[in-house]
Amino acid sequence: MGAAGHARRSCLAVPGSNPRMLDKAQGLPADQVFLDLEDAVAPLAKPNARKNIVAALTTGDWAGKARAVRVNDLTTQWTYRDVVEVVEGAAGHLDAIVLPKVQEAAHVQWLDLTLTQLEKALGLPVGEIGIEAQIENAKGLVNVDAIAAASPRVETVIFGPADFMASINMRSLTVGALIPDYPGDPYHYILMRILMAARTHDLQAIDGPYLQIRDVDGFREVARRSAVLGFDGKWVLHPDQIDAANQVYSPAQADYDRAELILDAYEYATSEAGGTRGAVMLGDEMIDEASRKMALVIAAKGRAAGL
Ligand code: GLV
Ligand code: MG
Repeated sequence: MGAAGHARRSCLAVPGSNPRMLDKAQGLPADQVFLDLEDAVAPLAKPNARKNIVAALTTGDWAGKARAVRVNDLTTQWTYRDVVEVVEGAAGHLDAIVLPKVQEAAHVQWLDLTLTQLEKALGLPVGEIGIEAQIENAKGLVNVDAIAAASPRVETVIFGPADFMASINMRSLTVGALIPDYPGDPYHYILMRILMAARTHDLQAIDGPYLQIRDVDGFREVARRSAVLGFDGKWVLHPDQIDAANQVYSPAQADYDRAELILDAYEYATSEAGGTRGAVMLGDEMIDEASRKMALVIAAKGRAAGL
């Protein structure tokens, strides 16, 4: 268990109140599923959704997917019961808890301590269940470095654009899309801030949902933006978005081939046989140790994607 190194190009939202979708999600090619107890589930449906999620995790076939559950945030009355019921019911079938609307390190520490108690009580190895921290407001973003560092369980930092836009009074009703009145990318600073915190602590950085589910081209466009910056994946809400995400967050074949070529050329150049040089020409481009590191990033993602 634990899914720290698992690919998360596509992270599929599945409402815990919908048994049909809990069933269908198992056959979809998403890298990760997160079974939701938060905003996709109405308050009166939450107790039953916990039971649906435990049943789906313990009896379903989630092979190949990272399995997460999104609990309610720590300003609500539901969080502790979400965590206790899900972990007690589905221990051994659960990789991580997604904690939404994280505002400070103490929120992550609360979850870490609670998971430790549960793991001890259940006889599980302590630390097995990961934490994914969703940043959804200004306070969370300001504290994102401390949040990322708050527990060794933290595996990802996730952007939650809908709540975030509301929290800062952004003047748009189209979640995750560019805003015609603004000449640049209104999410650039937020994404970079999250990415820096994630990379500092060796975590995955995950972009949030795009709610125009019929507009797959629009999804690709916004996904490409965070993929180019270095994000590892994005939340998806619909099967059509899964293939797009798996593609966009994998390197293009030509980039992957070029990365492998750079690695080979550099390895040869720095070897005894190649003259032990530190920099070498590859076509018109000079490559050196930094080029090797850049190529390694793309090659690793390409290999993981089976290119
Ligand atoms: C997701 O939870 C969001 O608020 O965008
Ligand atoms: Mg949200």
